[in-house]
Amino acid sequence: MRSVLEVQNLNVRYGEIHAVKGVSLRVEKGEIVALIGANGAGKTSTLSAIMGMIRAEGSVKFMGKDIERFSPWKRAQMGLSIVPERARVFPNMTVLENLEVGAYLVKDKKVFKERLEWVYDIFPRLRERQKQLALTLSGGEKQMLAIGRSLMNKPKLLLIDEISLGLMPKLVDEIFQILIKLNESGITLLISEQNTKKALEISSRAYVLQNGRVVKEGPSGELKEDEEIRKAYLGV
Ligand SMILES: Nc1ncnc2c1ncn2[C@@H]1O[C@H](COP(=O)(O)OP(=O)(O)O)[C@@H](O)[C@H]1O
Ligand SMILES: [Mg+2]
Repeated sequence: MRSVLEVQNLNVRYGEIHAVKGVSLRVEKGEIVALIGANGAGKTSTLSAIMGMIRAEGSVKFMGKDIERFSPWKRAQMGLSIVPERARVFPNMTVLENLEVGAYLVKDKKVFKERLEWVYDIFPRLRERQKQLALTLSGGEKQMLAIGRSLMNKPKLLLIDEISLGLMPKLVDEIFQILIKLNESGITLLISEQNTKKALEISSRAYVLQNGRVVKEGPSGELKEDEEIRKAYLGV
């Protein structure tokens, strides 16, 4: 049993709108898996449903356990975490205070210190700016803080929803490098992206969402060469 996450026949509805239509996907331990698709394809709905933040039908197994009836809090306790789309940091709190908020499941002071050091090692810029108010951070640094906050509970699986949205290309490269580093330090990742090129570069496998359905899936290296994907998503 190596699957960290196994989603079967997931459906999300907002009234009349059927946003996620029978999505099935899995994430194995140690992987970076990408969920790619255009605006409105259902990426956010899928990740939110996995985290338990919105109502959904279907089976969601995390670490071999059925979690679809669990609250987001319970899922977090089990080791699931999310960096939501356009994640906001608390502007009038310092970097350190933001990270403290993220550590809401950490009771032990020593564990907290270790986690903090771990996050600061991943994001040295956050260490340098730990006493600064979050509102003084650049766009990229705010994203790093949003990720850092989600890391404070040391998740087994981190869901990251369109982290590159609205970032300048140079920052996008930097953030994706960080995701690779994170993965190398033992965090399994499921990322949603509209930046198909980058997502396929850093992931081992990917699922392509279109109008709420998985229309393609496979090793990212193969999808990169796929004629339809090249036309529709890579612009070549
Ligand atoms: N809270 C909501 N209420 C009604 N419709 C929604 C809501 N959130 C998303 N949708 C619709 O569901 C579909 C999928 O949206 P979303 O999951 O945000 O896609 P993506 O993240 O890929 O852009 C879209 O048609 C969107 O308009
Ligand atoms: Mg979205």
